[in-house]
Amino acid sequence: MPAAAEAKERKFNLEDAVELAAGQNIEQAMREFAERMQIYRAGIKEIRTKLEILDEEFKTKFSYNPIHHIESRLKSPPSIVKKVKAKGLPVTVASMSANITDVAGIRVICNYIDDIYRVADLLTGQDDITLVRVRDYIKNPKPSGYKSLHLIVEVPIFLSTGAIPIPVEIQIRTIAMDFWASLEHKLKYKTDNDVAPALRERLRVCADRIYALDKEMQDIHTTIRSNSDEEQ
Ligand code: GTP
Ligand code: MG
Repeated sequence: MPAAAEAKERKFNLEDAVELAAGQNIEQAMREFAERMQIYRAGIKEIRTKLEILDEEFKTKFSYNPIHHIESRLKSPPSIVKKVKAKGLPVTVASMSANITDVAGIRVICNYIDDIYRVADLLTGQDDITLVRVRDYIKNPKPSGYKSLHLIVEVPIFLSTGAIPIPVEIQIRTIAMDFWASLEHKLKYKTDNDVAPALRERLRVCADRIYALDKEMQDIHTTIRSNSDEEQ
């Protein structure tokens, strides 16, 4: 079967496959890509499990869950190709592996602001986790008003041939921050990033209000917990 037809049969986006092959054997490029994506998928599983174990430990010891829920996604081949191109890099599996750190992405939604930092510290304190980058958009929000704690960590994936460190991007935010980010994202997406200034400003004001609310909820929560500790 010709390589092009085979690519279609494997439900791989043909254009991306051709891009990724970049002069090399298309089958070889696709195999390399599939193998690399499997490792990113494993990275998501490893981090998700670590987070779930921490959350369960808190539930058992302190009757309290720092994590509300976890979402994850693998970056799509078209988005990977777009990002590699935007960075002016060759569209190859090797360049994706060396330069794109958000192919494996995890979003952790917490109840309260303190939980965000607690979860981040407990995860990055683990022996097999390497912290590659921290961007604290809670202490330094984006001009849009966007708030979240972003980490890029490396976790080893143990394959038959040995361990491979794999980068995983982790976004940690409160339910309220997530509520804001999803509306803002929808708006940007629907309007092709061209959000009217008045709407942009209203959203920024919402981000401030949401933060004030987050801090107040945190305070009430802390007070309730310390009162119940005193009663015991
Ligand atoms: P990317 O190339 O976009 O991944 O940027 P980067 O590597 O500089 O990472 P950054 O720390 O800016 O985080 C990127 C991710 O954070 C995006 O893919 C979004 O999920 C999220 N994000 C960053 N800024 C905003 C924002 O203003 N609004 C919303 N809704 N999400 C944002
Ligand atoms: Mg990204």
